[in-house]
Amino acid sequence: MKILLATQKPFASAAVQGIRNIVEEAGHELVVLEKYAAQEELVTAVADVDALIVRSDKVTAEVVAAAPKLKIVVRAGAGYDNLDLAACTEHSVVAMNTPGQNSNAVAELAIAMMIYMSRGQFTPSTGTEIAGKTVGIQAFGNVGRLVGQKAAALGMKVKAIDPFLSDEQIAAGGAEPASSLEALYSECDFVSIHIPATPQTIGSIGYELITRMPKGATLVNTARKEVIDEAGLEQALKERTDLKYITDVAPDGYEVLKEKFGTRIFATPKKMGAQTSEANVNAGFAAARQICAYFAEGCTRFQLNK
Ligand code: 3PG
Repeated sequence: MKILLATQKPFASAAVQGIRNIVEEAGHELVVLEKYAAQEELVTAVADVDALIVRSDKVTAEVVAAAPKLKIVVRAGAGYDNLDLAACTEHSVVAMNTPGQNSNAVAELAIAMMIYMSRGQFTPSTGTEIAGKTVGIQAFGNVGRLVGQKAAALGMKVKAIDPFLSDEQIAAGGAEPASSLEALYSECDFVSIHIPATPQTIGSIGYELITRMPKGATLVNTARKEVIDEAGLEQALKERTDLKYITDVAPDGYEVLKEKFGTRIFATPKKMGAQTSEANVNAGFAAARQICAYFAEGCTRFQLNK
């Protein structure tokens, strides 16, 4: 079978080599499309492939329709808002993700972001410490739990909320359950966002929630830019000159916001939460193995469009 690794943002070379080894040992062929400049290149590249591995690359209905032999697509990562699942289902393409594989990298970045903002973006101004502060984790999944563990180890108090978990499950994961999302925002010096981008969550964090945060609080977003209501964020930062926002996913109007709010806002130039060689290896290898297992045994563990 021909497997295409299509990564606009390339994996570390060790990850690509390892993926190649896994694929070839199973008797398949790997082709690689990296750093492509236009979506048309992806559309062209899928013409004769049986399987596809992507990161945040957009697997649209057009891509799926252009790949008549495609049987499986694996998003090497957690969030799959970049896959058109309906189009995959319509064309009998199995869609999977690799949950948990890059979580540690994202969790480490969330912690780094809290420290970076507490220390005035590493300017010589007097900062604050994160020990003794409270972090609220919005969604206590693979990444959220790791953020909680690391924050606790650094002396932070950890609260969490997750619509899919009971208070007992949250407590078992080492966090104090928040009574509501509003309470989480009201009670925490930092809120770290770990929700996926879905029709229900897009634009769901805005003025009303952000202005609940206590004096000097920081909102940390290593999830998706789409979950933030940017107009609401801007209004909140304008009215509450003590609040800060740091994000791994630059808001659409970042340049304007940066000009208005200076060191109270920061966005990474490109999404880098999962951009470590370890995370690339973990997620990339998992994707390759899931494809090989699907072709060898029909294994559909982690299938998203069941
Ligand atoms: C994920 O959903 O797994 C992360 O956001 C990583 O995305 P990336 O593969 O584009 O870095």
